[in-house]
Amino acid sequence: MCGIIGVVGDADPLTTLLAGLTRLEYRGYDSAGVALVRPGEMWRARTAEGTESVSALKLACADAPTDARSGIGHTRWATHGAPEAVNAHPHVDCSGTVAIIHNGIIENHRELADDLRARGHVFTSVTDSEVLAHLVEEGRRAGLELLEALRATIQAVRGAFAVAVMDATEPDVIVAARRVSPLVVGVAPGVTYLASDVPAILDRARVFYAVNDDEIVRLAPEGFRAVDLDGAPVRLRQLSIDWDLETAEKGGHDDFMIKEILEEPGAVRATLLDRRRLDGTIAFDEMRVDDDELRAVRRVVLVAAGTSHHAAQVAKYAIERWARLSVEVDIASEYRYRDPIVEIGTLVIGVSQSGETIDTIQAVREAHGRGARVVAVTNVVDSSLAREADAVVYTRAGLEISVASTKAFVAQVAALELLALRLAQLRGTLEPDEVDALVRGLGALPALVERTLARRAQVEEVATALVGARDFFFLGRHVGFPTALEGALKFKEITYRHAEGYPAGELKHGPLALIEPGVVVVAIATDPTLREKLLSNLAEVKARGATVVAIVSDDDEVTEAVADYLVRVPVTEPMFTPVVDVIPLQLLAYATARLLGRNVDRPRNLAKTVTVE
Ligand code: G6P
Repeated sequence: MCGIIGVVGDADPLTTLLAGLTRLEYRGYDSAGVALVRPGEMWRARTAEGTESVSALKLACADAPTDARSGIGHTRWATHGAPEAVNAHPHVDCSGTVAIIHNGIIENHRELADDLRARGHVFTSVTDSEVLAHLVEEGRRAGLELLEALRATIQAVRGAFAVAVMDATEPDVIVAARRVSPLVVGVAPGVTYLASDVPAILDRARVFYAVNDDEIVRLAPEGFRAVDLDGAPVRLRQLSIDWDLETAEKGGHDDFMIKEILEEPGAVRATLLDRRRLDGTIAFDEMRVDDDELRAVRRVVLVAAGTSHHAAQVAKYAIERWARLSVEVDIASEYRYRDPIVEIGTLVIGVSQSGETIDTIQAVREAHGRGARVVAVTNVVDSSLAREADAVVYTRAGLEISVASTKAFVAQVAALELLALRLAQLRGTLEPDEVDALVRGLGALPALVERTLARRAQVEEVATALVGARDFFFLGRHVGFPTALEGALKFKEITYRHAEGYPAGELKHGPLALIEPGVVVVAIATDPTLREKLLSNLAEVKARGATVVAIVSDDDEVTEAVADYLVRVPVTEPMFTPVVDVIPLQLLAYATARLLGRNVDRPRNLAKTVTVE
C-alpha cells in the first residue's frame, strides 16, 4: 500500500519526484525514497520518519547528482517489514544496478525468495517487494531486455503490484507493470512519467494513459510503448482528466479535511446534477445495465469498506423502503471468503470513494465471477472499480485528499438514494408523484448542508467543553444508526479517542455496562418517528452519569430535557438526514482533533486508499 512515481527525460527529476511524492502521501507515509540514474550509476536515498518521511527525504537528497535525467520515487505504508529505512523503496538487486519501486503485495514472495537465495542472491530487507529486484536481475543476467526481464518477473509472481524498474546500464528507460494496484502514464514533450494516480504528475504531464492489469510499459523520453503478458503490443487508453492542480491544493484552509467538509454542498449538488430526463426518468449516463435487467433484480448486495460501508448501510434502508427489494450490506473484506450466494437477479453494488480499495475490488470480482451484475458507485473516473463494473454511478465529489473521508460520504448517500429511487421507478413501487417529491427533497439537500455548515460554531463549543473526555458512544436509530457509526469512525480516526457507534436500542444489551460519569454519548435524534424511543435510551445513559450531546432538528422541543449539549440542524426528510446529521459529527471530530493537536489529514497508522488485503 504505497505511492509510486517515475520520470524519464527530465532536466530536474528530483524536484518532480519529491513534488509527486508529497501528493502521493495519502497512499502511505511511513517511509519514502528515490533513486536517480546516471550512466552506469544508481544513486539512492531513503528515509523512515513517519509522517515527516518525504520532508526528511528532501534533506537526504542534498547531495544528489544534478546531472541525472531519470528517477523513481516511492512513499510507503508498511505491510511486510517494519517502517524502517532498510525496508523503504527503491530496492536494488545484488549488484546495485537494478532499482525497483512497488505498490501492492507479492503473495508468493517467500517461495521466490527461497529460490533466489538458493541461487546466491543476497537480500537486504524483509519486504515482499525485494524479490522483484532480484527477479529482474536474473532476467538481465540471462540477456533479456529490461522490458522482457520485467515481463518474465511478473509471470512468476502472484499478488498485486504496480512496479517500476530502472537499470543503471540504460539510464533513459523505465519499465513498469501493474496487476490490481493502479498505474498511470503521463506524457509531455521530451519527458514521460508514471505514477499511482494522475494528481501526482498533473502539473507536469499533458496527456494521461491508464495501464491495465498485466500490461508492461517501457518509458523513454520520447514516449512509451506497451505490451501484454504474452509480449504482444497493446495500446493504452487515454484518460479524460478535468482537474487542475488548484483542486488538489488546500485552497487557503488549514488542512484538506476542513476544505473538503466545506465542499460538501457542492459535492452533493454535482452528484445530483443532470440526473433526470424530461419525462421524469432518473438517468445515470454511465449506466450500462439496461432497464429490463434492473427491473429483473431480485436482491441487492452492497459491498464496501470504511466510510463507504456506512453510506452503503444508509442505502439499505432507502432501497428496502422505496424499491421493496431485500438488501444485504457486506464488509468487502468478508464477502469473498464466505462462499457468497449469487442467484439470478442478484445486483451487487460496490461502493468506494477511491475505486481502488483492494477489498472492494476483490469482492466485486468475486460477485462478477459468480454471475452477478455489478454497479460501481465511485468518485474516481476510470478507477479500477469503475472498470471492473458493468455500470458506474459517479459521485462527483471532486478529489478527496484527507484520509478521513467526508465529502465523499454525503455524495455517496445522495448517489445511492438516487439509485434507490431509480429502482423504485422501474419496479413501480412508488407513485410518480412520490418519486418527484423525493427527488425534490434530494435537490434541497445542498442548501440544507450549507445551512448546517454555517452553524459550525455550536459544534466547536461542544468540542472545547468535552476535549478532555476519553470515551465516546455514538447512538442512532434507523438511518441514524449508520450515521452514528460514521460519526464514531471519524472521531476515533483523527482524535485517537475511544469511540463506538451503536444502534441506540442495542445499548442495553451490553455497552450500557461501560456507561459511567465522564463517558460522552452523542445521540442522533433527528427522526421524529423514533424520538420517543431514543429519548428513553438517553434517559438510561443520563441516569448512569453520561454526558449527552444530542443532534436535533430545529423543530425539536423535547430532547433538550435529557441533553447536556444540543446541536441543532435544519429539519430534513428522515431518509435524507444522514447527509445533514453527519456534518456536526465530522466537525466535532475535526474540532476535537485540532484541539488535541492531531494531524487531521494524516492520522497515524492509516492511509487514504488501502490497496492491500
Ligand atoms: C480507508 C480510508 C477511509 C475509507 C476506506 C474505504 O480506510 O482511510 O477513509 O473510507 O479506506 O475507501 P474507499 O476509497 O473504498 O471508499
